[in-house]
Amino acid sequence: MDKFIIEGGTPLKGTIAISGSKNAALPIIAAGLLGNSETTIHNIPRLQDIYTFNNVLRVVGAKVDFIENENTVKIDPTGVSHLEAPYDLVRKMRASFYMLGALVGKHGYAKVSLPGGCAWGPRPVDLHLKGMEAMGIKISLDKGYVIAEAGDTLKGGSFTLEPSSVGATVNLLLASVLKAEKFVIKNAAKEPDVVLLCNTLVKMGANIEGIGTDKLTIRKVEELNGVEINNDPDRIELGTYMIAGAMHPENELTLTGCNADHLGGFPDLLRKTGTKVDIDGSVIKIKAPKVLKAVSAKTDIYPGFPTDLQAQWATMLTQAEGKSKVTDTVYFDRFSYVPELVRLGAEMHNEKNTVHIEGKTPLTGASVMSTDLRASVSLVLAAMVAENTTEVLRIYHLDRGYESLENKLGPVGAKITRVEDQ
Ligand code: EPZ
Repeated sequence: MDKFIIEGGTPLKGTIAISGSKNAALPIIAAGLLGNSETTIHNIPRLQDIYTFNNVLRVVGAKVDFIENENTVKIDPTGVSHLEAPYDLVRKMRASFYMLGALVGKHGYAKVSLPGGCAWGPRPVDLHLKGMEAMGIKISLDKGYVIAEAGDTLKGGSFTLEPSSVGATVNLLLASVLKAEKFVIKNAAKEPDVVLLCNTLVKMGANIEGIGTDKLTIRKVEELNGVEINNDPDRIELGTYMIAGAMHPENELTLTGCNADHLGGFPDLLRKTGTKVDIDGSVIKIKAPKVLKAVSAKTDIYPGFPTDLQAQWATMLTQAEGKSKVTDTVYFDRFSYVPELVRLGAEMHNEKNTVHIEGKTPLTGASVMSTDLRASVSLVLAAMVAENTTEVLRIYHLDRGYESLENKLGPVGAKITRVEDQ
């Protein structure tokens, strides 16, 4: 297992290009299985989760070509015949559960393992299954697998997501566009990832109303055509590097290939810390303040503060003057990074789904352990401002969601080396 060795204390100055979005790519790759011809998707990041998902599609019989030097994926669904997604692949990545909606939505049958996913907390899929049953899909469980069965046309109906769920919205869209006479998803997720999926499905020929709102109405169409589309830039990678730009008083970062429209209220929240945020089309310039102000945050569904930036924001607050707190209302236990930051010298503690932070605390290098994707990148952010050397272990978590992290941070001044862990 690889690790990062990071010498902290050097400022970050320069330009970082933002990659394609992992969480937007996975649903539209799954949508490629619904077409009757090849789908081509550009701006796909070279990430472990993409490689894993491409293999899941190959297992069911799709032809998937990842032209890595062009960040392009081509999906030919015409050979799909094995309508099962196995445990040993699905357990590696929760989003493989999208295969349930894609396979039953196109072929009327799917047998998909219940998902694994991140190390933290339970990650239920009850909304996915109840929503499919509300549509008229027959759901049964068999030794850790979900079996979904549907005839040519489903009566449809409506289903309200409580809480709003990105994954459930994605799965219900994939299952309904070719099957349900009329199906209404209420309290649907409005994340840009969902909007891109809806727009892609409509370009393929689907009938979806309410795109971008929390009420989606789907009406069955007879067939969908393969398309050529561009994936969105990664809004969470972007937010992560914006936060990195705020964490050392001499940092100045130019971020390119961005879509600031996907950040909701995040830029204004970052400005409240005293950080300069200049948005000019697809370029965002970040200039750190001499003194970082402590600004508390509470996560919410889109367009609220994203839970995927919760750990990064709390890490930044260890370098801000004063007391602050971060509450996660989406995941109540997504705080596995806290004890690791305490090992570096941070003064922070949890009370239920809130972490309380006392800043500014000097951080000192140590060995720390990655636990999940966003917790891991937070350890890198902390290590870059900690004095001396920090070892970040188990960075395979990072490789799931941050394309070429060390090759993006090194050129702007970070002293970061990847080494094979013996
Ligand atoms: C997606 O996960 C993202 N993953 C997550 O990003 C992100 O944190 C999350 O949305 C919230 O924005 C991908 O897009 C691949 P949810 P998802 O269903 O769809 C509860 C990252 O770091 N829930 O929106 O699994 C659930 O427990 C990853 O890139 C149910 O109760 O999240 C949570 O409290 C981590 N029943 C809330 O809904 C269900 O059936 C939101 O989860 C499904 C979800």
